Amino acid sequence: MEIPEINKDRLLRDLNAVSRIGLGEGGSVTRLVFSVHELRSRQLLVHLMNRAGLEVHVDAAGNIFGRLSGEREGPAVLAGSHLDSVVQGGRYDGPVGVIGALEAVRTIKESGVRLPVPLESVCFVGEESSRFGFATLGSSLVAGDVTMDDFANAVDAGGARLEDVLSSFGIYRENLASLKRDPKTVKAYLELHIEQGPVLESKKKKIGVVTAIAAPSRFRVIFRGQADHSGTTPMEMRKDALVAAGYLITYVDEVCREHASEDKGRVVGTVGAIKVEPGVINAIPGRVELQVDVRSITAASKRKVAGLIKKRARRIARERGMKVEVLTIREEEPVALHPGVISLIRAVCEEREVPFEVMPSGAGHDAMQMAKITPTGMIFIPSTNGVSHNPTEWTDPEDICLGTQLLVEALLRAAHAEI
Ligand code: GLV
Ligand code: MN
Ligand code: MN
Repeated sequence: MEIPEINKDRLLRDLNAVSRIGLGEGGSVTRLVFSVHELRSRQLLVHLMNRAGLEVHVDAAGNIFGRLSGEREGPAVLAGSHLDSVVQGGRYDGPVGVIGALEAVRTIKESGVRLPVPLESVCFVGEESSRFGFATLGSSLVAGDVTMDDFANAVDAGGARLEDVLSSFGIYRENLASLKRDPKTVKAYLELHIEQGPVLESKKKKIGVVTAIAAPSRFRVIFRGQADHSGTTPMEMRKDALVAAGYLITYVDEVCREHASEDKGRVVGTVGAIKVEPGVINAIPGRVELQVDVRSITAASKRKVAGLIKKRARRIARERGMKVEVLTIREEEPVALHPGVISLIRAVCEEREVPFEVMPSGAGHDAMQMAKITPTGMIFIPSTNGVSHNPTEWTDPEDICLGTQLLVEALLRAAHAEI
């Protein structure tokens, strides 16, 4: 099969353009889902897809599909990722997979190479959990694996409920399921992404072939003590919710370190957000809300540790005479990617003699959701110093180009092969 070469300058130029949207201090990027910056980045993508001559479809949630027809109108091979970011994140988490997929599809279009089935380059809305605590929103809707009830505790820092934001787009309880993509219309899904960890760089490998994706348990813990005067309340009479939260934060770190080894499931846990009320220097904190994220590639280990943290939260509250509430944001299962797609990506690397590593992903991705409806695989490229969700996130442009070139080949193989 003849494999067309990507246009590296165009790929890097368009990636740079995206990274300027939401640019902040120290080169950081902030494009929270449904913010003006995130909407602006999706608008740019629609423009680029139109200019490439793709048939563009935007669904009610804002997921974008740029389609290139094949000889047959059979199920399409999809590739993509997300354009939203964390707060003060980097430039490549998500956009590499979106602009990489666009570059791959427009390269194939321009080459006129034989294409038996359609290809679609995709951008999923709201992959990051940074705004609502709820991750992979758009791909979950496309996979049809979510109901309005699942958004019950998805609320942003300003109190906006995800359910209400969706209703402002005309998405309601009754029609939510209509966003689901018929699995019969999809042949496979491929996602190019930065590794966001140190493995490839440390092993001097250019590509990661992803086997499985660790899944999070995410929940809010709310301690309710009593707000009181910081000068007049004797120490033995206080119900300080922030002190209770402090003990729990320390416990999350301890229990995850105890379960960090391979045989205990390589569990990781983070308290990444905290809200203190009333939050002033001269009042004892009366209400504190923590957002907890526990992940593992092993479902049982993750469940066990999440259970221990919830139990400890109740104990801390009991011992301090306060109330505690645990609200589930989302409970997900680790996902194994498709053996056929894994072999296909391996074969591309082997034939091109590109050094690769077969590895799981510690980060979450839209591929987790797409794997529920179609054979799915992921291609990782190295992250300098393993850093991500940070303004210094960096990947060598040559590695971005290599990953995108391999994506061209993987898409063509997936379009031709029986998977
Ligand atoms: C997405 O980047 C995640 O939180 O894993
Ligand atoms: Mn991310
Ligand atoms: Mn990502």
